[in-house]
Amino acid sequence: MLDQIFGEENFVNEIIWKRQSSHNDAKQGSKHMGRVHDSIFLYGGGKDYFFQHLYRPYDQSYVDNFYRHVEPETGRRYQLGDLTAPGGGAPSKGNPYYEFLGIKKYSRYSEENMQKLWTRGRVVQTKAGSVPRLKRYLDEGKGVPLGSVWDDIGPVQGMGDEHLGYPTQKPLKLLERIIEISSQPNDIVLDAFCGCGTALVAAQNLGRQWIGIDQSPTACRVMAKRLRDICRLQEDEKLWQIGRGFIVRDLPWTEEKLRKIPPFEFENWAVIALGGIPNKAQVGDMGIDGRIYPTSAMPAKSGKKAGELDFMDAWYPVQVKQKDKAGRPDIDMFEAAMMREDRAKGFFVSFEFSSDALREIDAFFRREHRVIIPLTVREILDEVIAQKLA
Ligand SMILES: C[S@@+](CC[C@H](N)C(=O)[O-])C[C@H]1O[C@@H](n2cnc3c(N)ncnc32)[C@H](O)[C@@H]1O
Repeated sequence: MLDQIFGEENFVNEIIWKRQSSHNDAKQGSKHMGRVHDSIFLYGGGKDYFFQHLYRPYDQSYVDNFYRHVEPETGRRYQLGDLTAPGGGAPSKGNPYYEFLGIKKYSRYSEENMQKLWTRGRVVQTKAGSVPRLKRYLDEGKGVPLGSVWDDIGPVQGMGDEHLGYPTQKPLKLLERIIEISSQPNDIVLDAFCGCGTALVAAQNLGRQWIGIDQSPTACRVMAKRLRDICRLQEDEKLWQIGRGFIVRDLPWTEEKLRKIPPFEFENWAVIALGGIPNKAQVGDMGIDGRIYPTSAMPAKSGKKAGELDFMDAWYPVQVKQKDKAGRPDIDMFEAAMMREDRAKGFFVSFEFSSDALREIDAFFRREHRVIIPLTVREILDEVIAQKLA
């Protein structure tokens, strides 16, 4: 599936994250091995994708084997490397030949650079007459380039500081590594299934911008709290607009909240909740706040070929009133708009409808054979709407 989505030519690596050393899903009597790893698939976005090598510290057995010497004055570990040109040197390769500390050799370094290394204490001659060698400190090495098996990051510990109780929470270190490998500061990180927001915290820590998506409102609440508590970010639209702070969008609404938001926002909410498109003009809407383009009016279905204009002309008007009770005058105005636009069906949204308003809707149908569907906010929230729209 990933090959289809991202393109198989963009596949870069399969990474094995060994998340546990033992797993209790492999109990005695079970017929499989312990499932102790997750697979991470790395795809590049086209040929010029960003990639940064990371390095892991040498493990102790490597250090013990290859950095055997310890400098008594500083305690720094080091190994002794070659100063002699590779393979003993060859005049044709242009390696310099000179005498140093009584030894005549082809060298990797010019005589001048060799002198510099000597004065900086980087050249060691263990005894007179032996070949001088180069001191390489452990703490100056980059470490081992990271390979595709990651076994150095443990799971989020149940009792640890990081643990939020979110069932599939990933360790911060894992997400930080993924982000560091594949992005640069200020790049935008998108996690479309971001759970409790580990990738967002990692991106924030590393100076990236980020967008997180999750279908679960609980996840969104947990991640917002985490961004506030851990990253010290404020949930504030003004700050967000200037590149600080963050906002959480499209959480389920409550009736109480919807009564308080500005009228334009309320109109947008209602029209979008009905699957419609809000009018761009916020004033002078002449009784129409949005339009629904029913799929049944698609040219293919209606058998028409003529195209866009026919299709675009099939729409239902939506009128929205952020009122406790929509009354008869509100319905009258909408009826006028429907007559003007010659619409057979329209939707009216409010918190409630007076009995006068409902009677007028019936009378309008008998008079003009045009349908107004009254919808309350409660019905939209409860998704009763799906039945009414059908
Ligand atoms: C494995 S969890 C992500 C865990 C996350 N990496 C963390 O450390 O918290 C997957 C998340 O995907 C969400 N999800 C599943 N299907 C989705 C969908 N179609 N759209 C958006 N989110 C979805 C789930 O609600 C869940 O929170």
